[in-house]
Amino acid sequence: MSADSTALVIVYSYHHNSTQKVAEVIAHTLGAAVKHPTEVSPETIPQYRLLGLGAGIDSGKHYAPLLAFAQSLPAVQNIAAFIFSTCGVYGKAKMSRDHQALRNILQRKGFTILDEFSCLGFNTNSFLKFIGGINQGKPDAADLQRAADFARNLTVPNP
Ligand SMILES: Cc1cc2nc3c(=O)[nH]c(=O)nc-3n(C[C@H](O)[C@H](O)[C@H](O)COP(=O)(O)O)c2cc1C
Repeated sequence: MSADSTALVIVYSYHHNSTQKVAEVIAHTLGAAVKHPTEVSPETIPQYRLLGLGAGIDSGKHYAPLLAFAQSLPAVQNIAAFIFSTCGVYGKAKMSRDHQALRNILQRKGFTILDEFSCLGFNTNSFLKFIGGINQGKPDAADLQRAADFARNLTVPNP
């Protein structure tokens, strides 16, 4: 998709700002803005053609405030969406399970999900802080390159 203002990326990231890094690379590639859910009025979403939503994963789902934001969105038509995350443990099937709650909400609202992206993020949650955490340095340059490639390959259908 070429650089324009018809795409918006919304991210909730707080643990080590790993998902924020991914969001910024994706948004830069799309020429889109990156916003926190509190900066976006749900009723403005129908003006976009492409919406990306992402967060860290907590207990097998996107962070609760991002899910609550998705729940607050109006029903839409002809808006494409993509889902992204960073997580403590990565696998393709696990990503699909971790994304299911958000995917279900967006599909019920009428969004067409184009694609999904996830990669590892630094994790010092709970007892992991006592061993210095896991996934130090993640997301790394290769992860961010994959995020850029993911964004470049998104193809928004014509309305
Ligand atoms: C409270 C909490 C719960 C987490 N639960 C999971 C989980 O269920 N599965 C997983 O893969 N990672 C889990 N993680 C790891 C985070 O998803 C990972 O560190 C992510 O990169 C954090 O994103 P952020 O820095 O953008 O907030 C958890 C982290 C925290 C802080």
